[in-house]
Amino acid sequence: TVKIRIAENAGFCYGVKRAIKIADEALKKNEIIYSLGPIIHNPQVVGEYEKKGLKVVETIDEAKNAVLIRSHGIPPQVYEQISEKNLECIDATCPFVKEAQDYAKQLYEEGYFVVIVGDQNHPEVKAHIAYANYKAQVINSIQEAKNIEAQKIGVISQTTQSMDNFVSIVSEFVKKAKEIRIFNTICDATEKRQESAKELAKNSDLMIVIGGKNSANTRKLYEICLNFCKKVYHIETKEELKKEWFEGVENVGITAGASTPSWLIEDVIKAIEKIENDIY
Ligand code: F3S
Repeated sequence: TVKIRIAENAGFCYGVKRAIKIADEALKKNEIIYSLGPIIHNPQVVGEYEKKGLKVVETIDEAKNAVLIRSHGIPPQVYEQISEKNLECIDATCPFVKEAQDYAKQLYEEGYFVVIVGDQNHPEVKAHIAYANYKAQVINSIQEAKNIEAQKIGVISQTTQSMDNFVSIVSEFVKKAKEIRIFNTICDATEKRQESAKELAKNSDLMIVIGGKNSANTRKLYEICLNFCKKVYHIETKEELKKEWFEGVENVGITAGASTPSWLIEDVIKAIEKIENDIY
């Protein structure tokens, strides 16, 4: 029979799992909760939670009674708006993101020119900028680092940045600034997910990677697996599985992108077990 194994760090990271748990707990006490932005970038999960009473809104003005802060965090001014409106604040900001926010504030207060390595349009980064009193510069490349003229630079990173990019940008600053303070705020969830996918791919005849076709981190997992396993398929749901993939296969490995919920992974496993029964 086929042996099915799941990669150790497949699917949601610690911060997202925690946010979902906080939402579940809060939904037991509140009929409707307003989520500031979708809790996760997965339409199926968002739809599921909408049915349970978690309504997605863009601003505090649209919210009533209780507001959920997702793992990305929010600017300090939004906390103020929440308390001014006397709303219950259900805060699911990831503790690692909170830490980065504190560093952004600290660097600004200590007079550093604050640089955030990341994507300026990402909600997490937008909140970091606010903690640095809107005085931070967001950059993502060595070229942009070259354009910064400051003697005292304080650097933090978006939690999902790649370490290579962070290191090369910081090295650029070493060449020009007199004083640099660096807080490595990169979270290792992505790296761990990739590492465990690689280990499993090495020992599998077939790898199934589950996650959105437009999810960059899922596609990256797929590419990594391809380097270590001959047969790799990227699917979104169990419906895409094909019986012929499993013929002559003994070890099946499964991994999933950062926004793939565990019930979707379990659905795929059950479907594979069914296919396996049909074959053997
Ligand atoms: Fe996830 Fe928190 Fe890291 S949300 S990616 S565990 S910073």
